[in-house]
Parts: sequence; structure tokens; C-alpha cells
Amino acid sequence: MTVPAFLHPFARPTSERFIEIVRGQGALVWDAAGSEYVDALASLWYCVVGHGRAEIADAVGEQLRTLDAFHTFELFTNPAAERVAEELVALAPVPDARVFLTNSGSEAVDTAMKLSRLFWTWQGEPQRNLIVSRDRAYHGVTYGGTSAQGLAANKEHWGELLGGVVQVHADSLEEVEYQLSVHGERIAAVIAEPLQGAGGVFPPVEGYLQGLRDLCDRTGALLVFDEVITGFGRLGTWWGAERYGVTPDLITFAKGVTSGYQPLGGVLVGPRVREVLEADGDRWFRHGFTYSGHPAACAAATANLEVIRSDALLSRAPAIGAQLAPALQSIVDEGLAAAVRGTDGIWALALHPEDSALVVRDEMLRLGVIPRPIATHSLAFCPPLVISDEQLDRIADTTREALRRVRSRKPIPST
Ligand SMILES: Cc1ncc(COP(=O)(O)O)c(C=O)c1O
Repeated sequence: MTVPAFLHPFARPTSERFIEIVRGQGALVWDAAGSEYVDALASLWYCVVGHGRAEIADAVGEQLRTLDAFHTFELFTNPAAERVAEELVALAPVPDARVFLTNSGSEAVDTAMKLSRLFWTWQGEPQRNLIVSRDRAYHGVTYGGTSAQGLAANKEHWGELLGGVVQVHADSLEEVEYQLSVHGERIAAVIAEPLQGAGGVFPPVEGYLQGLRDLCDRTGALLVFDEVITGFGRLGTWWGAERYGVTPDLITFAKGVTSGYQPLGGVLVGPRVREVLEADGDRWFRHGFTYSGHPAACAAATANLEVIRSDALLSRAPAIGAQLAPALQSIVDEGLAAAVRGTDGIWALALHPEDSALVVRDEMLRLGVIPRPIATHSLAFCPPLVISDEQLDRIADTTREALRRVRSRKPIPST
């Protein structure tokens, strides 16, 4: 065997073995050998509406046949981009927002970081350029997102990261308060996932997000919610901001906005930042991606939002939680795993220190379920919201069976 031409993301460059996924329907996918899997992570946290939705494929095809693409820099626009922007603004948990469009969550995070600094620069305070972020955070892989994220392994070996990012412990409001009291007049923004996803699935501790809002209000810093995972129904609401009743100044999104049928992300820009951007008609916003507002991606988003509405998928997230949480807890109660974390449509099972999440994942693949091994020694579950009750049972039963098998192969630790 030799390595393939495709250098895979987040993989060993020497890997030679891959599972070729060729088809999907609902919460199921199939590989080239015909094996069926339950997609327990909605691919990579994004496939909210499930695989194989013909209405989204049709919307993308129709758009490509009408207008493949045309850029949106300066003068130009297209109906698909205008339409989805209006829809997103109407859904936004922030009044009077506008939306900037990107191709990915990482680009959305970089855009929000740049907007936070621009906000202060255009008000004559360019020294106000520090960004506070949390450990365990995941904010993507561009230099901005790599600098802001809190997973140490992802930050190593890239040389000098972006200056001016101050990292605090994930659940400590006191540390944010300390930073704001020491560097208050230099802090541009605080960035937080409402619920930390890829860093281990950690819901916010009681009062944490409101506490961030209060601290930002007191010192003037902007509050940025990174809703790349929590947006579009994962927590039973369109936005994590609504779920936790806290209104940020900027919101980044991606993933569930199209359920992955096309790459799309963006930033909802609330009134405070808007006002500064729009204050002087001679100023230019010198930022944008070639494919910002790509019509095929925007058409996919519009069709996807319609599916979320018509299938009433927001109400599925709490139902998934009501079934999955006790099933995962019973695995912990049997002594096979250490803890369960999560809420609504997003969960993690923390393993015992002696078990490898990769080994358990591999066993689960053999049994036909795809979870994701994530930070903090855990397996993540974040299925398409269309998943059936029977498929949810398959996830839990397979997790239990895989843990039993893996643990029975090990010598019992002596007491
Ligand atoms: C909270 C959060 N922000 C940003 C990103 C980066 O998104 P992308 O991989 O689309 O660049 C992710 C990806 O998982 C994420 O979970």
C-alpha cells in the first residue's frame, strides 16, 4: 500500500487506510464495501437535516444552472446571497443585524476577530486589540482561530501565532474579570462558544454566559459567540444565544447553516458594531473571500433552513437528549465509562483513563456506528436531528458493546 494523493486533514500523513463513504440517507451512511453506519456525529457536527435531502440538492443544481457564481466584492451581488442574508438576519437573536458570508467556520472566526479590532480602531482606539478566549475552546485552524482556540496540541509547531490573544480557564468568570480589570482599556472582545464542542462537549456552567455579558457591558468589550456548532437547532433553538438567554455583539456560524450540502459560514454583526462600520461613508471594509456569498452555497442554506422549519427539527434536539442521556448514563453506571456531558442534541461520553478513545471508536466502526474521539479522552455524539429512536438506541447499544469488548481484552488492573 502507498499513501494516497489526498493529504487528509487532521490525520497522520503516513495513513494508508481510509473508509470511503459513498452514499448517505438520513442518519445513515454507507462505505464503498457496502457496510452501513449510523452517523453519530452528523459527519463533523454539521449535518443537521440528515443526508440525501433531494430538495437541497435540487436547489443547488437549479442555482448552478441559472448562475454558477459571480463575486460579491464591492458593486456586485446575487439574489441567492441577498435572500439568505435576509433570512439569517430575520432568524438572528440580535436585533438589526447584518450578515457577512464566508466559506467556513475558521474564516468566520477570523472575520469576527478582525471586526472586533476594526470596531475599536475606527473609534480611535487601535490599542484596544486584545482578544480574550478560553481554554478547551475550538475556533478553527486559520492563524486567528488557531491562536484563539484552547487545545494545546493544535497550537504547536506553527511558529508564532497571532499576538494579543489572552487565554483564560474555560469556566472561570473571575479570570475574565481579572483580565478586564488589568487590561480593560486594551481588550477588544471576549470570544466563547456558548457550549464548548470539539474541546470536549462542555455546556456552560450556570450563569457563566450572562456573567461574560455583564463583564463586557461593564468594560465595553465586545462579546463574540462562536456558534459554529451550536447554531441551527443543535440545542433546540436556532442559536445557543437564545437557548441561554444571552445576546452577544457578534455571532460566528457555519456547519448547520447548510447542513454541509455546500460550504458556508458567516458572522452576524449586531447593531453596536454595525453602527461603527456604517458611521463614515468614505471608509472601506477591506476584507472578503472570493466565494463570500457564493450563490450555490447560499441556495443550499435557504433550502436547508426550510427543511429545519418544515420538519420541525428544533424540537428533535431535546427529544434526542431525553433518549441519549439516560442510555449513556447507564453505560457509566455499569462502570464502562467515567461520565456523561452534554445537552439536547450534543453529548460526550468521558472514558476511563485506561481506555483509548481511538480504540473504542475503531471497535464501534466495526459494529456500524461512527462517533468522534475528541479532546479530554471522550467520544462525541451529535447526530443528525432526523435520527430515529431506533438509530439512537443503536448508538448507545454499540457504544456499550464496544466498551465491553475493548475492556475485556485488557488485563484487569490489580487492586
Ligand atoms: C466552534 C467552532 N468554531 C470554528 C470551527 C471551524 O470551522 P471550520 O472547520 O468550518 O473552519 C469549528 C469546527 O468544528 C467549531 O466547532
